[in-house]
Amino acid sequence: MTTDIKLRELVTKLVANGNLISLTVTPTKGINTGITKVSARRVEIKGRINWQFEVRLTKQVQHINVSDVASVFADQLEALLDKCMFSTLNLKTTEGLYQIMAKPDRSSVKIIHHGGAQNAPKAQPEPVAHNRTKNYIIPEGQPLDFLQQLGVMDETGRVLQPMRRKFVQINRFLEIVDDIYYSLPNRDVLRIVDFGCGKSYLTFAMYHYFTKIKERKVDMVGLDLKEQVIHDCNKLAEACGFDKLHFEVGSIEEYQEAYSNTDMVVTLHACDTATDFALEKAIKGQVPVILSVPCCQHELNGQVQNETLAPLLKYGLLKERFAALLTDALRARILELCGYKVDIIEFVDMEHTPKNLMLKCVYTGEPASPMKRREYETLVGEMQVHPTLESVLR
Ligand SMILES: C[S@@+](CC[C@H](N)C(=O)[O-])C[C@H]1O[C@@H](n2cnc3c(N)ncnc32)[C@H](O)[C@@H]1O
Repeated sequence: MTTDIKLRELVTKLVANGNLISLTVTPTKGINTGITKVSARRVEIKGRINWQFEVRLTKQVQHINVSDVASVFADQLEALLDKCMFSTLNLKTTEGLYQIMAKPDRSSVKIIHHGGAQNAPKAQPEPVAHNRTKNYIIPEGQPLDFLQQLGVMDETGRVLQPMRRKFVQINRFLEIVDDIYYSLPNRDVLRIVDFGCGKSYLTFAMYHYFTKIKERKVDMVGLDLKEQVIHDCNKLAEACGFDKLHFEVGSIEEYQEAYSNTDMVVTLHACDTATDFALEKAIKGQVPVILSVPCCQHELNGQVQNETLAPLLKYGLLKERFAALLTDALRARILELCGYKVDIIEFVDMEHTPKNLMLKCVYTGEPASPMKRREYETLVGEMQVHPTLESVLR
């Protein structure tokens, strides 16, 4: 559906010409995507025109602000249409109403135009009341040294176009951190480890969140295999005056520090079984909060066998996706068996990658029921797999 050219052309033209007033999206009934409605309108934030998408989820409302550049708007709309499996999109414009309906097989759309005033004036943005501005934890327009140094924003706080997705990802991540904030211990210094930190956009953002927004003392470590990346991160932390954030070269497997005294373990896109070793450290240390976005779950893809699932496992692509889901389901269950409450949530709209599931885990210490263990053992047995997380915890 993302490739429906007619729809993209129409939307791009309406936005570029200033004719689009607002839109509403109705998701397909009976398919639970977690989104109940999407709408968008033009808003003026700090003198700049933006489009604000309002995404109604089952239990909360999310706001996404994007610039009024037509292609950026179209990208965001397409991502949301796909995500909510839309059935109808209504575009209210100065040229009247456009009603766009997805064909049942979702291969294309039908566009109906209900007409409107000729030569109508361009759409005016609505001014945004103070309490309705979204709501990003790091708002656009607020210049921050670390985001400038990372090339995400310029000195006026404007987000650079190629980094917009990263900016959205950073804010989404901080929303999740904000969500679990009260699950963290109320101790003087919070100790946080980021396994497989890479360039550390999110690590720096987390440091900013805890120290500047929450005004907490922290001691944060980022760990990665790559020497040059770690060198650059340490230089950047120093340049930003982030004196309690430091980075170490090393492998997650061999890291010894995270067994105790750690309040939060973060592991975002650490490849394949590197995630298991990070989870192992966190579980053994009964770390209160774990945020983990697994990726490249290859391990079980090479192991899984099941006669009943033969029609599915026959296809490489399906097998790969199934194995990735199986890996994360088993990880989640192991975490539950080890006393964690686990939620699996969508990390961010990574439209072009399925690597967007996050295991959000809070330690409760509650023993898991024998049934949960039996279910785990049955699944592992039937799929004939041997997850690394289980073996390293033994
Ligand atoms: C895809 S990047 C993710 C970076 C960052 N966490 C993010 O989400 O933006 C994965 C990083 O994990 C690191 N990594 C992979 N396996 C690792 C291991 N066993 N020990 C330490 N770092 C590892 C890689 O070097 C790479 O920088």
